[in-house]
Amino acid sequence: MKKIILSAAIAATGAFAQVDKPIEMPYYDYPMVQKDHYEVVAANCLTCHSFGYVLNQGKHRNRSYWTGTVRKMVDEFKAPISKEDSQIIINYLVKNYGDGK
Ligand code: HEC
Repeated sequence: MKKIILSAAIAATGAFAQVDKPIEMPYYDYPMVQKDHYEVVAANCLTCHSFGYVLNQGKHRNRSYWTGTVRKMVDEFKAPISKEDSQIIINYLVKNYGDGK
């Protein structure tokens, strides 16, 4: 009897190796400002982390902070973001999550 239970357990474990149902990941939806090319920000900044990182930096960050942050994502973390898109993203962040200058 014991043997049968054991092999059933192995069979069950084997079945789990194949993902047969969607894996649920916690997803947090942050209410980001939906203008000023938000879609470019979403396309480039959501691949590695949620917007929580962006919103948790506090208000009134200046342009040099956001420029440095976007550069850091590209240089250190290898985010594949074009120069053109970087500029759009920096403008969005400064305007909506910075001091506006
Ligand atoms: C290639 C993956 C990747 C992409 C794409 C990416 N990030 Fe990050 N980001 C990271 C990693 C890794 C961290 C550091 C996480 C940690 O320290 O816990 C981070 C951290 C941050 C932080 C926290 C502050 C800091 O300096 O660590 C901010 C703000 C941030 N990212 C903004 C952005 C923005 C804006 C974009 C879009 C331009 C972006 N990220 C795209 C990987 C990425």
